[in-house]
Amino acid sequence: MRAHWPVPTVDPSLTVEAFGLRFAHPLGLAAGFDKNGEYVDALGALGFSHIEVGTVTPRPQPGNPRPRLFRLRHIQTLLNRMGFNNQGADYVAARLQRSSYRGIRGVSIGKNADTPLERAADDYVACLRKLYAVADYFAINVSSPNTQRLRELQAPDALTDVIVPLQQERERLAKTHGKRVPLLVKISPDLDREVLRDICATMKRHGVDGVIAANTTVGSTTLRALAKDLGTGGFSGMPLAPRGIGIIADLREELGNAFPIIASGGIMDGEGALMRLRAGANLLQVYTGFVYRGPALVNEILEVLPHVAD
Ligand SMILES: Cc1cc2nc3c(=O)[nH]c(=O)nc-3n(C[C@H](O)[C@H](O)[C@H](O)COP(=O)(O)O)c2cc1C
Repeated sequence: MRAHWPVPTVDPSLTVEAFGLRFAHPLGLAAGFDKNGEYVDALGALGFSHIEVGTVTPRPQPGNPRPRLFRLRHIQTLLNRMGFNNQGADYVAARLQRSSYRGIRGVSIGKNADTPLERAADDYVACLRKLYAVADYFAINVSSPNTQRLRELQAPDALTDVIVPLQQERERLAKTHGKRVPLLVKISPDLDREVLRDICATMKRHGVDGVIAANTTVGSTTLRALAKDLGTGGFSGMPLAPRGIGIIADLREELGNAFPIIASGGIMDGEGALMRLRAGANLLQVYTGFVYRGPALVNEILEVLPHVAD
């Protein structure tokens, strides 16, 4: 007999429409789990409504030397400094081409480590071209702490310099491919309110389709002290929970009701998922919770989702 994981059937009332796409329900898998789009079919079978592959760079690159990923099990946390290890945009495009996953495929795009910051836009545009045919949405990753100076691209002028060429190229590609692929921006949780306000204004001004909040955190002094022997990187999982909820509320206030927000960061159980939706998120993504709890987390969240309005 063929063993299979019991994928929960979801109520049609859980459908989410955002940036022109229809998601079967809010829960997806965050970027960085399937960097090369190699496991989309298997991960999709666990019940995610969307899977964000990548972060992909134009050219393949090895990422940082190992060890580069650590579990801090007692606090349900991961520390990583992977550094965009991936096989490059052509490879990922070919893998996605071959997958039969019927959910939404997001593609997170970034820049190669050896591309100077001033040329970053060229890398994002190169990824957009190579992956346009196979992507349902793009996430512009300007928030990984593990690529030197990448987060500087969140400053309004720098962000504009990335978004505008992407928008222009998207308009061109939309005509040749007969589809308009939405562009989202993924931001850091380590931004103060003023910077967040500037980013929101920039995104709205330039017609960004949605925001993903947030990436890993460089951590508080306390968190860094707990990991002092492990070196640098971004923390994810439980310690991100308070900011993970707070940033959704802040963004909703800044962006108004119509702007789509994907919550990422510290969603470790069903209750955490409900809290993000109640704070104003349209969609959810898990990573570290999924690492610690496995597919049972997907089922737990899907079971509680109908209770969001309770
Ligand atoms: C090992 C690892 C690799 C990651 N790689 C990426 C990445 O390539 N691109 C990206 O946008 N986010 C990446 N992330 C961040 C996650 O997508 C997610 O935003 C973050 O971990 C917070 O969610 P969580 O607390 O549920 O893990 C990575 C996270 C981890 C733990």
